[in-house]
Amino acid sequence: MSTHAAVVTIGPGLPLEIHQVKTPKAIGNQVKLRTEWTASTPLDLHQADGGLLVKSPQVLGDGFGGTVVEIGPEVSRLEVGDVVFGFGWRSQEEKAHQEYVVTNEYLLAKLPTGFSLQEAVTLPNNFVTAWHTLTKEAGLNLPWPKPENHKPQTRDQWILVWGGSSSVGQYILQVLKYYGYKNVVATASKAHHERLRTYGAKECFDYRNGDVSDEVQKFISLQSNGNGHISFIVDCIGSRTSSISPISKIAKPGTDVAIMLPVIVKDAAVGIKPELSMDVDEGVSWADGVERRGVRTHFYLDNQFLADKLQPEIMPSLLEKGVIKPNDQLIVEGDTLLERAEKALSKLRNKEVSGARLVWRIAAAQN
Ligand SMILES: NC(=O)c1ccc[n+]([C@@H]2O[C@H](COP(=O)([O-])OP(=O)(O)OC[C@H]3O[C@@H](n4cnc5c(N)ncnc54)[C@H](OP(=O)(O)O)[C@@H]3O)[C@@H](O)[C@H]2O)c1
Repeated sequence: MSTHAAVVTIGPGLPLEIHQVKTPKAIGNQVKLRTEWTASTPLDLHQADGGLLVKSPQVLGDGFGGTVVEIGPEVSRLEVGDVVFGFGWRSQEEKAHQEYVVTNEYLLAKLPTGFSLQEAVTLPNNFVTAWHTLTKEAGLNLPWPKPENHKPQTRDQWILVWGGSSSVGQYILQVLKYYGYKNVVATASKAHHERLRTYGAKECFDYRNGDVSDEVQKFISLQSNGNGHISFIVDCIGSRTSSISPISKIAKPGTDVAIMLPVIVKDAAVGIKPELSMDVDEGVSWADGVERRGVRTHFYLDNQFLADKLQPEIMPSLLEKGVIKPNDQLIVEGDTLLERAEKALSKLRNKEVSGARLVWRIAAAQN
C-alpha cells in the first residue's frame, strides 16, 4: 500500500510530527482527494495541547479542499478532476492535515466557479456547525430550498450571538439573515461591528466592556417596550469566564442557550495545558427555566436530510449565491508542511486570530 505525509499530534503539548500513513483506496461511495488547502480551527489546539478526545498519534484537521484523484464504484455525483471542499472528522483517513483524504461523497461539495479553495476551506466546519446549531439546538425551521417570500413566524424573536466575529458566529449571523430573522444582536470586538451589521446584526456590543450583559438587556428592553425576552442565545466561544458567565446573567426563564463545546476553563498558552470540560453548568449559576445545551456538530449526520444535503448542496449553493461570505483568510506561510502546521497552532495558542480563519497549504495540486 502506498503512503503519504500527515500532521499528527503525539501527545498533549508535544511538538507536532509528520508521519507517513497508509493511503487507502476509495471504496463504495468514497472519494480520495489530493488535499491542497486546509483551515486550522480551535479544535486543533484543543486536541494538540489539550488532548481532547484524542488517541495519539492522531492526524489533525477537519476542513479540506483539493482535487478528486480516485472514486469508489458507488460514487454518483463527483468525478476524478473535480475540485471539492468539505468537513470530515470520523476517522484518521478523513482528517484534513494530510496529503490525501479519503471520505464519503456526502461530505464533499464541488467548488463553485469564481471562488478559491482558500476561501472555501473557511466554510465546511463552521457552516455545518451554524446550520446544525440553528436547526437542532434553537429548533428553527430552515426550509431548503428556501421558498420565495419565506417569512418565519418567529422572525421577530430576539436572538443573541455571543462571539459574532468568530467563524461560527459569522456563519450563524448570515444564515439567520437569509432566513429573515430581524432581531439578532451580537457581541464582538468593536473592529468587527460594521461587518457584523452587514451580516444581519441589528446591534453589536463589545464583549470586553464589563457591563456588556446590562447593555444587551437594556437595548433589547428599549427596542421591545420593556419586554425584552431573549428566546435563544448561542455562545460561539464556550469560555467559562468570558462568555458563559456573562451569558448566564442575561438568560432568563424561557431562554434557550446553546454553547459550543468544549467549555474552556483555562486557555492554552505557551507551556500551559488548557483545561477543557464538557459540562456547561459547572461553576455557573443559571436562572431556573433556562435551557442550556452543549453543541456537538459531530452528530449532525444523525439527521438524514442534513447528511444528504448540507455539505453537498446547501453549502456550495449559498456560497455561490453570495448569501454566505467566506471568513477572511489569514494565510499561514512556511517552507514545510510541519512548519505551516506548527505556525498555525502557535497563532491559535497566542490568540492571533480575530475575525478570520487560518488557512494554509497542505500539498501542491497534482498534474
Ligand atoms: N462543539 C462543536 O460542535 C463546535 C463546532 C465548531 C466550533 N466549536 C468551538 O467553538 C469555538 C469557536 O470556534 P471558531 O472556529 O468559531 O473560533 P474562532 O473563529 O477562532 O474564534 C476567534 C474569535 O473569537 C472571538 N472571541 C474570543 N473570546 C471571546 C469572548 N469572550 N467573547 C466574544 N468573542 C470572543 C474573537 O473575537 P474578536 O476578534 O471580536 O475579539 C475572535 O474573532 C471553539 O472553541 C471551537 O472549538 C465547537
